[in-house]
Amino acid sequence: MIYQNPARWVVDLPPYTPIEPFEVLSVRLGRRPQDIVKLDANENPYGPSPRARQALAELQFAHIYPDPESRALRQALSDFTGVPAEFLLSGAGADELIDLLLRVMLEPGDRVITCPPTFGMYAFGTRLNGGQLVEVPRRPNFSLDLPALQQAVNDLQPKMLLLASPNNPDGSLLSDQELHALLELPVLVVLDEAYIEFSGLGALGEQGSRISAVPQRDNLVVLRTFSKWAGLAGLRVGYGAFPAWLLPALWRAKQPYNVNVAASAAALASLEDRDYLAGIAASLRQERERLQRELGRLSFLQPYPSCANFVLCRVPDRSARELKETLAAQYGILVRYFDSPGLRDHIRISAGRPQDTNSLLEALAALE
Ligand SMILES: Cc1ncc(COP(=O)(O)O)c(C=O)c1O
Repeated sequence: MIYQNPARWVVDLPPYTPIEPFEVLSVRLGRRPQDIVKLDANENPYGPSPRARQALAELQFAHIYPDPESRALRQALSDFTGVPAEFLLSGAGADELIDLLLRVMLEPGDRVITCPPTFGMYAFGTRLNGGQLVEVPRRPNFSLDLPALQQAVNDLQPKMLLLASPNNPDGSLLSDQELHALLELPVLVVLDEAYIEFSGLGALGEQGSRISAVPQRDNLVVLRTFSKWAGLAGLRVGYGAFPAWLLPALWRAKQPYNVNVAASAAALASLEDRDYLAGIAASLRQERERLQRELGRLSFLQPYPSCANFVLCRVPDRSARELKETLAAQYGILVRYFDSPGLRDHIRISAGRPQDTNSLLEALAALE
């Protein structure tokens, strides 16, 4: 029956592996949600800032559709980033903007380059939108293989190159030289800065971000989010800066009410609570450094340096999957394990509050 055929590239997508919701997990582990130490999804354990909580509690217009152009938020983001508002577009998380970009840019079979190991949504979004994924793997220390990337772009003429800096799962940054070399290539470079506020470079709006370079370039997109530094992952709000030629297509294609009123109010209030949130980002950086130092003392973990709110560790002499399972079942501590090539002997641990690090270190010491 002709109408029973979803698009070929959707049928060919790898099976969906759902995230276990917190409530379900809490029942499975037999622990109350507040007794679970959740260090598996790079969330911000401090949650929204006081002003954002207040804005949510006082929300007035939940019965009215939101502004399709998110004018107030984009203006506030312009003040935050220094990028004129006409270059900015907000979305339901950076995830929505990744999908929107791919939907707008790809015709079936168009190529997109990613550099694994990296954030899984790049491969998923490319396949879902009928694109052809070209993977140019990172080197064993997670740095980019620049010559291979240059060759892939020149030989295969991809439409886009999707990169994260800091990269998820290792936390490494893209250097200025690397970015310059990539921007010389005939490809749209999408730089995902979901974790840039933890890099510790400069004020919160800047933090070593490349977002202010976007209006001067034709082939650079920078994506950012409120999910991590502002603790709004559950509300879904992100934004990006895009070159002038791309914006009309994005505006035409986006869902009209993609940023809901609660997300918008919380994001605006977060931008007014920068000093508080800068303090939170500093504490998470401090815990990341403590994790790096302390995990490195254990015989069975080798942490990598990270500029984000997480630390990737190689687990050389035992099963990384079993370690993850033991931490969850015996201690109620969740860390991330990736069942993918190159990462099967690794775990990724998000930076939490000092008490979260204490619980983790105690558990790991008992497993030494
Ligand atoms: C590199 C990277 N980009 C984007 C996201 C998702 O951001 P958002 O919550 O804004 O959709 C994540 C989330 O883990 C991520 O690791």
